[in-house]
Amino acid sequence: MSERARFVVVANRLPVDRVVADDGTVDWRTSPGGLVTALEPVMRRMGGAWVGWHGAPDETVAPFQHDGYSIVPVPLSAEEYEEYYEGFSNATLWPLFHDTVAFPEFHREWWDAYLTVNRRFAVATAEAAGDGATVWVQDYQLLLVPQMLRELRPDLKIGFFLHIPFPPIELFQQLPWRGQIIEGLLGADLVGFQVPGGAQNFLRLVRTRTRHRVERDGVRIAGSHTCVARAYPISIDSQGFADLAETPEVIAESEALLEELGHPKTIFLGVDRLDYTKGLRQRIRAMGELFEEGKLDPADTVFLQVATPSRERVEEYKKLRDDIDLLVGRINSHVGGVGRPAISYLHAGFPRTTMAAMYRIANVMVVTPLRDGMNLVAKEYVACHPSTNGALVLSEFAGAAKELKQAYIVNPYDLNGMKDVLMQAATDAPRNRQRRMRALKKQVFGHTIEQWADNFLGDLEGR
Ligand code: ADP
Ligand code: F6P
Repeated sequence: MSERARFVVVANRLPVDRVVADDGTVDWRTSPGGLVTALEPVMRRMGGAWVGWHGAPDETVAPFQHDGYSIVPVPLSAEEYEEYYEGFSNATLWPLFHDTVAFPEFHREWWDAYLTVNRRFAVATAEAAGDGATVWVQDYQLLLVPQMLRELRPDLKIGFFLHIPFPPIELFQQLPWRGQIIEGLLGADLVGFQVPGGAQNFLRLVRTRTRHRVERDGVRIAGSHTCVARAYPISIDSQGFADLAETPEVIAESEALLEELGHPKTIFLGVDRLDYTKGLRQRIRAMGELFEEGKLDPADTVFLQVATPSRERVEEYKKLRDDIDLLVGRINSHVGGVGRPAISYLHAGFPRTTMAAMYRIANVMVVTPLRDGMNLVAKEYVACHPSTNGALVLSEFAGAAKELKQAYIVNPYDLNGMKDVLMQAATDAPRNRQRRMRALKKQVFGHTIEQWADNFLGDLEGR
């Protein structure tokens, strides 16, 4: 890279993935997940450099320009992909940080790969960042980078944001490498969490498991700096999503979709990465029972569920994929008329225009994770749905429930309770639905991704 950047984002993923088709042609595709959705508009506004992996193992890609900022690809070998990404990041940390809704696995070789790759990201970032630059490290795949980077470049301002929940100390302390991970994070000047509970969990952990002095939300690292831990609930480009949903292209697509679904009276919609934290098994069972019990009529009601393929070689994800295929098949063979299934299940990723078209036509948006850092899908629905007549059903275990209090809140572990609330959302008096939706829109349009970035970066600059 010729010029070093004043502002650098570091994330496991780049905003675009390099995909090679069977015929050898190379293409770049928007990467999956909420992190990229949230940070893309921030980078377009700020400029600078985004350091991350390009999604293809065993390939080295040269830096390039994208949407007005620099992309700095960090390579991963096929073995590192297995041990650092699929292993330590997604089969150790991911389940552990999501309340062990699946069992975390602990393997020493995975930890070694995690250390190696975190070091590689720190070195690449140290090379990309200009003198005194601001560096913003993202998420659980890079927990060690703040400390490694501080050692390499003490002149930098280092922020860290965790997109997923930070677990209670009782779970975190299962980690054999807990000490190194706490110290890794404490290398930052500012560590951000999705909700105040995450920051509290972290500070309690530091108080009980280290010798550092903690004063209110600051941790004093003797002879070095103070690391502050606070909550910064992430959001979306609310107006950008709303504008997209009003484009002729999206309106036409939503009409075509309605046609395809047979103009049902009620559309329930689920949109997720195919991840066991998203509560898909519970959601589909609840919807299936409502159809089977005749409370919902497949002649006029459709449940549209789209699930982006995710982490497909990790055992728990394979199991989930099979379970969902079976469950949907079983329900659809019991209920639904000729030609139109009660559950329309699409295992694929879609362009953002198609997502917006789905949000437009959904009467009830169903977001029921067992645990989720925030959940941006809930906010996207509120921003895109054109009227105040839509209803959002939201799990109390999503970070978003702390903000979107007027949603129809459910406990996804309580199937009967969830069924009741799903029915309530679908049949509530319009004035109740509208009152709730108005409050949700006020929240989503009043707390945007721009404000999130300004709040975090403003606090980081003041450190
Ligand atoms: P996570 O970060 O865990 O995936 P979020 O709900 O915060 O969860 O973010 C998911 C992002 O991925 C959203 O921006 C959503 O629009 C997008 N997304 C989810 N499912 C699909 C899909 N099937 N096709 C395209 N985008 C999707
Ligand atoms: O926000 C959670 C998150 O895990 C991001 O860190 C990640 O980029 C995204 O979801 C999608 O997951 P993956 O990068 O493993 O496909």
